[in-house]
Amino acid sequence: MADRKRPLLPFALIALAVLAVLAFAAGDAATAWAQSSTYPQTTLEPKSEVARAIDNVLDGIVIWVIIIFVVVQAALVFTVARFRQRPGGAPARHMHGNTTLEIAWTLAPAIILAFIAVPTVKAIFANAKPTKGDVTVRVVGHQWWWEFQYPGMGILTANELHVPVGKTVALELESVDVIHSFWVPAFAGKKDLIPGRTNHLWFTPEETGTFAGQCAEFCGASHANMYFKVVVQTQEEFDAWAAQQKAPVAAPDSASLAARGLAIYQKGQCVACHMIDGVSYGVVGPNLGKVSTRATIAAGMFPNDDENLAAWIRNAPALKPGSLMTRQDQLSDEDIAALVAYLRTRR
Ligand code: CUA
Repeated sequence: MADRKRPLLPFALIALAVLAVLAFAAGDAATAWAQSSTYPQTTLEPKSEVARAIDNVLDGIVIWVIIIFVVVQAALVFTVARFRQRPGGAPARHMHGNTTLEIAWTLAPAIILAFIAVPTVKAIFANAKPTKGDVTVRVVGHQWWWEFQYPGMGILTANELHVPVGKTVALELESVDVIHSFWVPAFAGKKDLIPGRTNHLWFTPEETGTFAGQCAEFCGASHANMYFKVVVQTQEEFDAWAAQQKAPVAAPDSASLAARGLAIYQKGQCVACHMIDGVSYGVVGPNLGKVSTRATIAAGMFPNDDENLAAWIRNAPALKPGSLMTRQDQLSDEDIAALVAYLRTRR
Protein backbone atom coordinates (compact mmCIF):
# COMPACT_ATOMS: atom_id res chain seq x y z
CA MET A 1 0.00 0.00 0.00
CA ALA A 2 2.80 2.35 -0.89
CA ASP A 3 0.51 4.96 -2.40
CA ARG A 4 -1.80 5.28 0.65
CA LYS A 5 -2.31 8.93 1.62
CA ARG A 6 -1.31 9.82 5.15
CA PRO A 7 -4.13 11.89 6.70
CA LEU A 8 -2.47 15.03 8.02
CA LEU A 9 -5.51 17.19 8.66
CA PRO A 10 -6.85 15.03 11.55
CA PHE A 11 -3.47 15.28 13.32
CA ALA A 12 -3.49 19.05 12.94
CA LEU A 13 -7.04 19.27 14.31
CA ILE A 14 -6.18 17.03 17.28
CA ALA A 15 -3.11 19.16 18.04
CA LEU A 16 -5.22 22.35 17.94
CA ALA A 17 -7.88 20.78 20.18
CA VAL A 18 -5.25 19.74 22.75
CA LEU A 19 -3.79 23.27 22.71
CA ALA A 20 -7.24 24.79 23.21
CA VAL A 21 -8.02 22.47 26.15
CA LEU A 22 -4.66 23.31 27.76
CA ALA A 23 -5.27 27.04 27.31
CA PHE A 24 -8.73 26.84 28.92
CA ALA A 25 -7.44 24.62 31.72
CA ALA A 26 -4.68 27.13 32.48
CA GLY A 27 -7.24 29.95 32.53
CA ASP A 28 -9.50 27.98 34.87
CA ALA A 29 -6.65 27.13 37.23
CA ALA A 30 -5.60 30.76 37.37
CA THR A 31 -9.13 31.91 38.20
CA ALA A 32 -9.55 29.25 40.88
CA TRP A 33 -6.24 30.25 42.41
CA ALA A 34 -7.13 33.94 42.36
CA GLN A 35 -10.45 33.29 44.07
CA SER A 36 -8.99 30.98 46.69
CA SER A 37 -6.19 33.34 47.68
CA THR A 38 -6.90 35.86 50.40
CA TYR A 39 -6.17 38.72 48.03
CA PRO A 40 -6.14 37.93 44.32
CA GLN A 41 -2.92 38.94 42.63
CA THR A 42 -3.52 39.44 38.95
CA THR A 43 -2.69 42.00 36.27
CA LEU A 44 -5.89 41.04 34.44
CA GLU A 45 -8.19 42.90 36.83
CA PRO A 46 -6.68 46.40 36.82
CA LYS A 47 -7.95 48.79 39.50
CA SER A 48 -6.10 51.94 38.48
CA GLU A 49 -5.51 53.93 35.30
CA VAL A 50 -1.85 52.87 35.19
CA ALA A 51 -2.70 49.18 35.55
CA ARG A 52 -5.45 49.50 32.92
CA ALA A 53 -3.01 51.07 30.44
CA ILE A 54 -0.63 48.15 30.99
CA ASP A 55 -3.50 45.66 30.63
CA ASN A 56 -4.61 47.31 27.36
CA VAL A 57 -1.10 47.01 25.91
CA LEU A 58 -1.11 43.34 26.90
CA ASP A 59 -4.54 42.80 25.28
CA GLY A 60 -3.33 44.39 22.02
CA ILE A 61 -0.20 42.22 21.95
CA VAL A 62 -2.23 39.06 22.68
CA ILE A 63 -4.55 39.81 19.71
CA TRP A 64 -1.57 40.27 17.37
CA VAL A 65 0.07 37.13 18.68
CA ILE A 66 -3.13 35.12 18.09
CA ILE A 67 -3.40 36.45 14.51
CA ILE A 68 0.27 35.63 13.82
CA PHE A 69 -0.11 32.18 15.37
CA VAL A 70 -3.17 31.31 13.28
CA VAL A 71 -1.67 32.62 10.00
CA VAL A 72 1.70 30.89 10.53
CA GLN A 73 0.15 27.58 11.61
CA ALA A 74 -2.32 27.66 8.69
CA ALA A 75 0.55 28.31 6.25
CA LEU A 76 2.58 25.55 7.87
CA VAL A 77 -0.22 22.96 7.77
CA PHE A 78 -1.07 23.94 4.18
CA THR A 79 2.56 23.67 3.08
CA VAL A 80 3.13 20.34 4.77
CA ALA A 81 -0.06 18.89 3.29
CA ARG A 82 0.28 20.39 -0.18
CA PHE A 83 3.99 19.83 -0.80
CA ARG A 84 4.67 16.61 1.08
CA GLN A 85 6.58 13.86 -0.72
CA ARG A 86 4.27 11.53 -2.61
CA PRO A 87 5.30 8.10 -3.89
CA GLY A 88 5.94 8.49 -7.57
CA GLY A 89 5.62 12.24 -7.34
CA ALA A 90 7.89 14.64 -9.13
CA PRO A 91 11.08 15.64 -7.25
CA ALA A 92 10.92 18.94 -5.40
CA ARG A 93 11.48 21.98 -7.57
CA HIS A 94 14.28 24.18 -6.25
CA MET A 95 13.96 27.92 -6.39
CA HIS A 96 16.13 30.83 -5.33
CA GLY A 97 14.83 34.22 -4.24
CA ASN A 98 11.37 35.74 -4.51
CA THR A 99 11.41 39.51 -4.27
CA THR A 100 7.67 39.89 -3.71
CA LEU A 101 7.67 37.34 -0.88
CA GLU A 102 10.74 38.88 0.76
CA ILE A 103 9.30 42.39 0.70
CA ALA A 104 6.02 41.05 2.09
CA TRP A 105 7.56 39.21 5.04
CA THR A 106 9.76 42.18 5.89
CA LEU A 107 6.96 44.75 5.67
CA ALA A 108 4.29 42.76 7.51
CA PRO A 109 6.26 42.33 10.78
CA ALA A 110 7.41 45.97 10.59
CA ILE A 111 3.79 47.14 10.36
CA ILE A 112 2.69 44.81 13.17
CA LEU A 113 5.58 46.03 15.37
CA ALA A 114 4.49 49.61 14.72
CA PHE A 115 0.93 48.74 15.82
CA ILE A 116 2.40 47.27 19.04
CA ALA A 117 5.06 49.94 19.62
CA VAL A 118 2.84 53.02 19.34
CA PRO A 119 0.36 52.08 22.12
CA THR A 120 3.23 50.72 24.25
CA VAL A 121 5.30 53.91 24.05
CA LYS A 122 2.16 56.03 24.58
CA ALA A 123 1.33 54.05 27.74
CA ILE A 124 4.91 54.32 29.02
CA PHE A 125 5.02 58.10 28.58
CA ALA A 126 1.51 58.66 29.92
CA ASN A 127 2.41 56.85 33.12
CA ALA A 128 5.96 58.11 33.55
CA LYS A 129 4.75 61.68 34.12
CA PRO A 130 5.79 62.73 37.61
CA THR A 131 2.66 63.32 39.61
CA LYS A 132 2.41 65.05 42.92
CA GLY A 133 0.62 62.56 45.11
CA ASP A 134 -2.25 63.32 47.47
CA VAL A 135 -0.50 60.85 49.75
CA THR A 136 3.27 60.32 49.72
CA VAL A 137 4.71 57.11 51.12
CA ARG A 138 8.36 56.19 51.38
CA VAL A 139 8.73 52.46 50.78
CA VAL A 140 11.92 50.92 52.13
CA GLY A 141 12.80 47.37 51.15
CA HIS A 142 14.42 45.12 53.74
CA GLN A 143 15.35 41.44 53.61
CA TRP A 144 12.46 40.34 53.77
CA TRP A 145 9.82 42.88 54.68
CA TRP A 146 8.49 46.28 53.69
CA GLU A 147 8.77 49.51 55.65
CA PHE A 148 6.13 52.15 54.93
CA GLN A 149 6.84 55.70 56.10
CA TYR A 150 4.33 58.52 55.74
CA PRO A 151 6.50 61.65 55.86
CA GLY A 152 4.57 64.59 57.21
CA MET A 153 2.03 62.30 58.85
CA GLY A 154 4.41 60.88 61.44
CA ILE A 155 3.46 57.29 60.64
CA LEU A 156 5.92 54.41 60.42
CA THR A 157 4.53 50.96 59.75
CA ALA A 158 5.31 47.73 57.93
CA ASN A 159 3.93 45.30 55.36
CA GLU A 160 0.44 46.82 55.17
CA LEU A 161 0.16 49.95 53.05
CA HIS A 162 -3.00 51.93 53.82
CA VAL A 163 -4.16 54.45 51.21
CA PRO A 164 -7.40 56.38 50.56
CA VAL A 165 -9.50 55.43 47.53
CA GLY A 166 -9.52 57.81 44.56
CA LYS A 167 -6.41 59.67 45.76
CA THR A 168 -3.10 59.59 43.93
CA VAL A 169 -0.49 57.70 45.89
CA ALA A 170 3.12 58.73 45.22
CA LEU A 171 5.69 56.19 46.35
CA GLU A 172 9.38 56.85 46.95
CA LEU A 173 11.10 53.49 46.65
CA GLU A 174 14.35 52.81 48.51
CA SER A 175 16.26 49.84 49.87
CA VAL A 176 18.62 49.33 52.79
CA ASP A 177 20.26 46.14 51.57
CA VAL A 178 19.77 44.56 48.13
CA ILE A 179 17.53 45.23 45.13
CA HIS A 180 13.86 44.46 45.72
CA SER A 181 10.91 45.18 43.45
CA PHE A 182 7.58 46.67 44.47
CA TRP A 183 4.65 45.06 42.67
CA VAL A 184 0.91 45.37 43.18
CA PRO A 185 -0.50 43.97 39.92
CA ALA A 186 -3.91 45.60 40.45
CA PHE A 187 -2.39 49.10 40.58
CA ALA A 188 0.91 49.36 38.72
CA GLY A 189 3.82 47.66 37.06
CA LYS A 190 6.93 46.51 38.86
CA LYS A 191 9.47 49.07 40.04
CA ASP A 192 12.83 48.23 41.62
CA LEU A 193 13.96 49.43 45.03
CA ILE A 194 17.68 50.08 44.62
CA PRO A 195 20.13 50.80 47.45
CA GLY A 196 21.49 54.34 47.25
CA ARG A 197 18.81 55.82 45.02
CA THR A 198 15.13 56.72 45.06
CA ASN A 199 12.72 55.43 42.45
CA HIS A 200 9.20 56.74 41.99
CA LEU A 201 5.86 55.08 41.32
CA TRP A 202 2.34 56.53 41.14
CA PHE A 203 -1.14 55.10 41.05
CA THR A 204 -4.68 56.07 41.97
CA PRO A 205 -6.69 53.16 43.40
CA GLU A 206 -10.27 53.11 42.16
CA GLU A 207 -11.83 50.61 44.56
CA THR A 208 -11.70 49.95 48.29
CA GLY A 209 -10.49 46.56 49.42
CA THR A 210 -7.34 44.65 50.20
CA PHE A 211 -4.93 44.01 47.35
CA ALA A 212 -1.98 41.67 47.17
CA GLY A 213 1.56 42.79 46.54
CA GLN A 214 4.83 40.97 46.51
CA CYS A 215 8.54 41.50 45.99
CA ALA A 216 9.25 40.82 42.31
CA GLU A 217 13.05 40.79 42.28
CA PHE A 218 15.03 37.87 43.71
CA CYS A 219 16.55 39.21 46.93
CA GLY A 220 17.69 36.19 48.92
CA ALA A 221 16.42 33.17 50.83
CA SER A 222 12.96 34.51 51.67
CA HIS A 223 12.31 36.52 48.51
CA ALA A 224 9.20 34.41 47.96
CA ASN A 225 8.03 35.29 51.50
CA MET A 226 8.20 39.04 50.99
CA TYR A 227 4.51 39.84 50.64
CA PHE A 228 2.59 42.96 51.47
CA LYS A 229 -0.96 44.18 51.30
CA VAL A 230 -2.41 47.43 50.05
CA VAL A 231 -5.48 48.35 52.08
CA VAL A 232 -7.56 50.85 50.08
CA GLN A 233 -10.01 52.65 52.35
CA THR A 234 -12.52 55.47 52.18
CA GLN A 235 -11.05 58.81 53.24
CA GLU A 236 -12.86 58.52 56.63
CA GLU A 237 -11.50 55.01 57.24
CA PHE A 238 -8.02 56.11 56.20
CA ASP A 239 -8.16 59.14 58.53
CA ALA A 240 -9.30 56.88 61.38
CA TRP A 241 -6.44 54.46 60.65
CA ALA A 242 -3.93 57.34 60.54
CA ALA A 243 -5.26 58.70 63.85
CA GLN A 244 -4.95 55.28 65.46
CA GLN A 245 -1.37 54.89 64.19
CA LYS A 246 -0.44 58.15 65.93
CA ALA A 247 -2.48 57.72 69.12
CA PRO A 248 -0.36 57.25 72.23
CA VAL A 249 -0.46 53.86 73.95
CA ALA A 250 -0.77 53.74 77.74
CA ALA A 251 1.84 51.74 79.64
CA PRO A 252 0.42 48.40 80.88
CA ASP A 253 -0.77 48.06 84.50
CA SER A 254 2.21 47.23 86.66
CA ALA A 255 0.79 43.91 87.90
CA SER A 256 -0.28 42.67 84.45
CA LEU A 257 1.25 40.01 82.24
CA ALA A 258 1.76 42.75 79.64
CA ALA A 259 3.91 44.72 82.12
CA ARG A 260 6.09 41.65 82.58
CA GLY A 261 6.26 41.41 78.79
CA LEU A 262 7.41 45.03 78.56
CA ALA A 263 10.20 44.31 81.07
CA ILE A 264 11.33 41.29 79.05
CA TYR A 265 11.15 43.35 75.85
CA GLN A 266 13.32 46.09 77.37
CA LYS A 267 16.04 43.86 78.73
CA GLY A 268 15.98 41.40 75.84
CA GLN A 269 17.34 41.52 72.32
CA CYS A 270 14.12 43.07 70.99
CA VAL A 271 15.23 46.66 71.59
CA ALA A 272 18.29 46.29 69.36
CA CYS A 273 16.19 45.85 66.23
CA HIS A 274 12.66 47.13 66.84
CA MET A 275 11.17 50.52 67.45
CA ILE A 276 8.36 51.26 69.87
CA ASP A 277 8.00 54.99 70.42
CA GLY A 278 9.28 55.90 73.89
CA VAL A 279 10.50 52.34 74.55
CA SER A 280 13.09 51.32 71.94
CA TYR A 281 14.65 52.76 68.82
CA GLY A 282 15.96 49.88 66.72
CA VAL A 283 15.60 50.24 62.95
CA VAL A 284 16.62 46.80 61.72
CA GLY A 285 13.21 45.18 62.09
CA PRO A 286 9.65 46.45 61.66
CA ASN A 287 8.27 49.15 63.91
CA LEU A 288 6.20 47.44 66.63
CA GLY A 289 4.53 50.58 68.02
CA LYS A 290 1.17 49.55 66.53
CA VAL A 291 1.98 45.95 65.64
CA SER A 292 -1.41 44.70 66.83
CA THR A 293 -3.25 46.88 64.32
CA ARG A 294 -1.74 44.76 61.56
CA ALA A 295 -3.58 41.73 60.17
CA THR A 296 -0.46 39.70 59.44
CA ILE A 297 3.07 39.13 60.70
CA ALA A 298 6.34 38.20 58.96
CA ALA A 299 5.55 40.31 55.84
CA GLY A 300 2.16 38.83 55.13
CA MET A 301 3.08 35.19 55.83
CA PHE A 302 0.86 34.47 58.85
CA PRO A 303 -2.31 35.86 60.43
CA ASN A 304 -1.41 38.05 63.40
CA ASP A 305 -2.85 35.80 66.12
CA ASP A 306 -1.32 34.95 69.51
CA GLU A 307 -0.22 31.47 68.50
CA ASN A 308 1.59 32.64 65.36
CA LEU A 309 3.16 35.61 67.14
CA ALA A 310 4.48 33.34 69.94
CA ALA A 311 5.88 30.85 67.41
CA TRP A 312 7.47 33.73 65.50
CA ILE A 313 9.17 35.17 68.61
CA ARG A 314 10.34 31.68 69.62
CA ASN A 315 12.01 30.77 66.32
CA ALA A 316 11.49 33.07 63.37
CA PRO A 317 14.06 31.45 61.04
CA ALA A 318 12.17 28.14 61.36
CA LEU A 319 9.09 29.86 59.92
CA LYS A 320 10.85 32.07 57.40
CA PRO A 321 14.14 30.85 55.93
CA GLY A 322 16.98 33.30 56.44
CA SER A 323 14.99 35.56 58.76
CA LEU A 324 17.34 38.04 60.45
CA MET A 325 15.26 37.75 63.63
CA THR A 326 17.24 35.34 65.78
CA ARG A 327 15.69 32.44 67.68
CA GLN A 328 14.99 33.19 71.33
CA ASP A 329 15.83 29.91 73.10
CA GLN A 330 16.60 31.74 76.34
CA LEU A 331 12.97 32.74 76.76
CA SER A 332 10.54 30.47 78.61
CA ASP A 333 7.01 29.84 77.32
CA GLU A 334 5.78 32.19 80.07
CA ASP A 335 8.21 34.89 78.90
CA ILE A 336 6.93 34.59 75.36
CA ALA A 337 3.29 34.66 76.50
CA ALA A 338 4.11 37.86 78.42
CA LEU A 339 5.77 39.39 75.32
CA VAL A 340 2.70 38.53 73.24
CA ALA A 341 0.46 40.10 75.92
CA TYR A 342 2.58 43.26 75.81
CA LEU A 343 2.58 43.45 71.99
CA ARG A 344 -1.22 43.08 72.11
CA THR A 345 -1.38 46.38 73.97
CA ARG A 346 0.37 48.02 71.03
CA ARG A 347 -2.69 48.99 69.02
CU1 CUA B 1 12.71 41.48 48.17
CU2 CUA B 1 12.62 39.77 46.53
